[in-house]
Amino acid sequence: MAFRCLAALVAATTVLAKTPAGFTPSSETDLIVEFNGFVPLNGVDISKSVTTSQPRIGTLSRLNGTSYAVMMVDLDIPTNAPPETDTLLHWMQIGLVPSPTPTQLNTTSGPIRVFLLETPPSSPIDGTIGGAELKAEAIVPYFGPNPPARVPLSHRYTQILVDTSALTETGTAALRRAAETSMRGFNTSAALAAAGLDEARAVVAGNSFNVTNPGPAAANNATGGSGGSGGESQGGSEAGTETGTGEGARQTVLPGEAVGLRPGSVMLGGLVSVAVVALGL
Ligand SMILES: *[C@@H]1O[C@H](CO)[C@@H](O)[C@H](O)[C@H]1NC(C)=O
Ligand SMILES: *[C@@H]1O[C@H](CO)[C@@H](O)[C@H](O)[C@H]1NC(C)=O
Ligand SMILES: *[C@@H]1O[C@H](CO)[C@@H](O)[C@H](O)[C@H]1NC(C)=O
Ligand SMILES: *[C@@H]1O[C@H](CO)[C@@H](O)[C@H](O)[C@H]1NC(C)=O
Ligand SMILES: *[C@@H]1O[C@H](CO)[C@@H](O)[C@H](O)[C@H]1NC(C)=O
Repeated sequence: MAFRCLAALVAATTVLAKTPAGFTPSSETDLIVEFNGFVPLNGVDISKSVTTSQPRIGTLSRLNGTSYAVMMVDLDIPTNAPPETDTLLHWMQIGLVPSPTPTQLNTTSGPIRVFLLETPPSSPIDGTIGGAELKAEAIVPYFGPNPPARVPLSHRYTQILVDTSALTETGTAALRRAAETSMRGFNTSAALAAAGLDEARAVVAGNSFNVTNPGPAAANNATGGSGGSGGESQGGSEAGTETGTGEGARQTVLPGEAVGLRPGSVMLGGLVSVAVVALGL
């Protein structure tokens, strides 16, 4: 009974693509993204404060693959040549395993049963998953939305779930390279192709939500600096205290927070630290 609210919400929005119009790879299968009870689905606008730490993710149907990756990309990074925008990779986690049994999440829209995607509970580093070894690794640890007071004030954060059951070691390296070389300007389709994944088959679910800076928007040339400046770093009260830094440079990502969907793995935390250092986050 109590399932109705969110079920109705999900049903009511099925006419919408789950990933934003025009974005590829697209998916019309719901990816449930839950931040401490908040489940921003299919383009709704949500407060930035809700999205500061890594969400839990899951699907409404049971998945049959052995391992999955999640990516989150901001599609609306302002540039110094508006209305042109750029993209920014906010999260890339590989080695997620779908739970065979549903979990009830108590959300602000009512309870919902989802099949959570989690990092393996045992040997998260060397876990042999369905014959293929795939390290559970936050290639880019989650860092939350922080749209600056620039046009566009409202940013679309899209999340896609990728079946990586067939991902090879070379493919994993390609994903890592794509994240490291083009976190800003991240091209999801190109990254999947480089990893040897066919996006039409590999992308199994998606979602998008907006986070909006209350404004007013500063002149788009006000931050000056090089083309890479001002990305997403000057949100709200931070405006004026920081200038010209890309978001990646300013975000503080605590390894402990960034680890997979199950906090507390020291080894994984170490790996994440390495990723943080490597990316200069
Ligand atoms: C998983 O399910 C999808 C769709 O239900 C199907 O196309 C695919 O072949 C299945 N994969 C495996 C490994 O069973
Ligand atoms: C969710 O709510 C149900 C019933 O209200 C309760 O039994 C359950 O423990 C709650 N689960 C969590 C994780 O809070
Ligand atoms: C989400 O952001 C996009 C890009 O700025 C905008 O076009 C759209 O209207 C926003 N949607 C909501 C619900 O705020
Ligand atoms: C992203 O990559 C795809 C495939 O490589 C390419 O067709 C597309 O033009 C690229 N998009 C952008 C915005 O560069
Ligand atoms: C921004 O551009 C406008 C119009 O091109 C110009 O008048 C203004 O002085 C510029 N502002 C800054 C801070 O460069």
